[in-house]
Amino acid sequence: MRTVFSNPDKSDQIKRYWSDRARATEPSSAQATTYDVFLRRLEISTLKEKLEAASLPDGSTVVDLGCGDGYTTVSLAAEFPTVRFIGIDWSEEMLALARQKLLTLEAPPGTVSFRLGDIRHLSADLHSGKFEVFLSVRSLINLTSSEEQYDTITQIAEHLTPGGYYFGIEDFLQGQRNFNHMRAAMGLPELPVRWHNHFFDEEILLAETRNLFDPVALESFSSSYFLATRVIYSAGCHLMGVEPDYFHPIHRTAGMLPAIGDFSPIKLICARRKLCKEALCAS
Ligand SMILES: C[S@@+](CC[C@H](N)C(=O)[O-])C[C@H]1O[C@@H](n2cnc3c(N)ncnc32)[C@H](O)[C@@H]1O
Repeated sequence: MRTVFSNPDKSDQIKRYWSDRARATEPSSAQATTYDVFLRRLEISTLKEKLEAASLPDGSTVVDLGCGDGYTTVSLAAEFPTVRFIGIDWSEEMLALARQKLLTLEAPPGTVSFRLGDIRHLSADLHSGKFEVFLSVRSLINLTSSEEQYDTITQIAEHLTPGGYYFGIEDFLQGQRNFNHMRAAMGLPELPVRWHNHFFDEEILLAETRNLFDPVALESFSSSYFLATRVIYSAGCHLMGVEPDYFHPIHRTAGMLPAIGDFSPIKLICARRKLCKEALCAS
């Protein structure tokens, strides 16, 4: 049994941060959870490829943990009409935006639902249900400690069907360090980890999850995107004395480049739940 260190005051602050942010965002905007809309598109296309490769049977369910404004959930649902999507978030304000997205993006009727819940307590959110896929997109980095993060990942494994998939798009210290080295080489200041984020360590994630998933791997899908936008483009802006603009066309182009190197904090955790029942007992 894992001892889970938590920081309730900080969790409350984080929840308030996201609710305030949702309140300040127009329902039609895709910027409620990050200002970088083209990064979101890259995340969605990456998850779409993974879900296609998973060849989910009709009637399968994908659970999106910390779904925020639902842009990712609903965009994916539009691509997989025979799959059910459940989005969970603890912010009523984010869920209000998510329900608006259901009206404007073209998901097949009745395939998407949103629930208020805390992703640290999946049995309360999902009871004893088992599901084919879990997603987390920049949501586990909002938990206040590594213990909370790994406890949540263990719960994900417990709620996956044998052979089910966990695809997590989360931030890692190593990629952050690498892209900050590149920024420093270009004369740019380091970008810090923000107060409400707790990044993963790659080696520890792989070691902690080995008992639950087989295989488990990390993919640096946004490396070229970060190199082009946060290093090269930012250095150009610095040179010209202008502020970087998330809608500058370089973002659209960068999202189409093949991923090379290891220059982004944001990576994809690709994990498949072990088939044998003993795996979870041994963890
Ligand atoms: C960076 S946003 C990402 C939203 C979305 N996954 C996306 O693709 O943009 C993080 C989201 O996680 C939610 N969140 C953070 N901690 C949570 C928790 N313990 N339970 C439920 N939701 C949580 C926040 O409310 C916020 O909407």
